[in-house]
Amino acid sequence: ARRIWLTRHGQSEYNLVERIGGDSNLASTGEVYARCLPEMLLERLPLVGLERARIEEIVAGVEAGTAGAAAGAARAADPEPLPVPVSVWTSTLRRTIQTARYLPFPKLRWKALDEIQAGACDGLTYEQIAQQYPDEFMARSKDKLRYRYPAGESYLDVIQRLEPVVIEMEREKECIVVVGHQAVLRAVLGYFMAKPLASIPTLDIPLHTLMELRPRPDGTMDYEFIPMP
Ligand code: G3H
Repeated sequence: ARRIWLTRHGQSEYNLVERIGGDSNLASTGEVYARCLPEMLLERLPLVGLERARIEEIVAGVEAGTAGAAAGAARAADPEPLPVPVSVWTSTLRRTIQTARYLPFPKLRWKALDEIQAGACDGLTYEQIAQQYPDEFMARSKDKLRYRYPAGESYLDVIQRLEPVVIEMEREKECIVVVGHQAVLRAVLGYFMAKPLASIPTLDIPLHTLMELRPRPDGTMDYEFIPMP
């Protein structure tokens, strides 16, 4: 792809209470991030003329929705996609779909972009996991890359299931915005930045931050973190 942006979903209701997994909605802070995203991307898009004017109009619509939201006005969610070379890929979980909903580009949902499956630990906090499954908690802290949750996945499993997504990202001629999850984006970023496998489970993927990847002529990538203004 000409340019790739990666972002985690906005803060979710589960994030607020530190529960992992699940399929919760965005918290209000996450909703603020979702509304900021169109403008953060607009500033980075290699576009000109009419198209840019049209995007600005849509961003203005989202902002009007923000002002009106307090008064209960209809929100400008799911705008008509623009005829520009950008596509947005989300997982099938609510929090990524909701984070992407103000972006005026065609959208694609990938099951392979869903967050690491925590199996028996889904919906628990790390504290609860340590109490209820102390051996599991210990095993994960010893080898986070290979550790597989009971009836769930390991980072290695996630890296493997992401292969078709990453291949498609490399093939794609357009710009791609991936709205994903922490573990999944660690794997994607690790792949594109050629990070050692062992470092992937602890890569820093900050919340409410856009990561921009720019291919260099030698095939490697530059990347930059763009925090929410
Ligand atoms: O389980 C969901 C988390 O986003 C993954 O974080 O692998 O550091 O526990 P973790």
